[in-house]
Amino acid sequence: MPHILDGKKIAQNLKDQLKIEIENIKIKSNRVPGLAVVQVGNVAASSVYVKAKTKAAKEVGINVYDHHLEETTKQDDLINLINHLNTNEDVDGILVQLPLPKTINEETVLNSIAPEKDADGFHPLNVGKLSISLKNDENLMIPCTPYGCLLLLRELNIELTGKNAVVIGRSNIVGKPMAQLLLKESCTVTTVHSKTQNIEDICKKADILIAAVGKPEFVDKDWVKEGAIIIDVGINRVKINDEKSKLVGDVLFSDVENRVSAISPVPGGVGPMTIACLLRNTTISCKNRLIN
Ligand code: GUN
Repeated sequence: MPHILDGKKIAQNLKDQLKIEIENIKIKSNRVPGLAVVQVGNVAASSVYVKAKTKAAKEVGINVYDHHLEETTKQDDLINLINHLNTNEDVDGILVQLPLPKTINEETVLNSIAPEKDADGFHPLNVGKLSISLKNDENLMIPCTPYGCLLLLRELNIELTGKNAVVIGRSNIVGKPMAQLLLKESCTVTTVHSKTQNIEDICKKADILIAAVGKPEFVDKDWVKEGAIIIDVGINRVKINDEKSKLVGDVLFSDVENRVSAISPVPGGVGPMTIACLLRNTTISCKNRLIN
């Protein structure tokens, strides 16, 4: 039987630690971290994520400032709001939920967030810091999903140095920062994507396989080496029948579970870790801003 990486439990441990840190910040500085959550439009999945992030932030004692804007919001108005949040002393973290409506340039918006308040770690300055920084990740704003994946791997207490890690997917949100993080752990990292040749063969050599494909149950046992560790980043809602649907990952769990040494489930794996890491970034930003 593989080790099932219990993201819910590991995220709860991280949130419990953050709760104590936030109480300490309150005692010392008479304030708590603040997170501004910006959603533009009504993409159903985004609404679910924003609700979960808001709830978790409140649970650990972070103040949440919700900004839900109309789908028709103009880019300049969104950037004006971000400029206000950038200078609002009560706000330590700013999260702009993606995707944004097509009329808005995502890159321009993300670049307008003050790097020290960039709770997602998507600003070019933070992307650059992640790529050149040495081992210590204590004060960096690291993209939440890949950092959550790394924390799941660390939970296994295995040596990551020298491991063959394959990341499926090259997005700015997951694939690229994931590869950077694994490189910092001294893994030998390969990123594969939709244009990669012999993708199955490459994945089959992985000691650690990170699946961030965005296609339901895409990775099956033919992609997986015996004894590999699998982190499944996918969150795909699939229909069971006219009334019912369920969440599945990018990996066909039932097909690979007897082949692998460890695997993160969907739901209950990476998802809760992403949220906990957002709270971590917000708390770190608050601490950094109190010092500076
Ligand atoms: N959309 C999908 N994942 C994310 C994320 O981690 N952060 C934000 N802001 N939007 C997302």
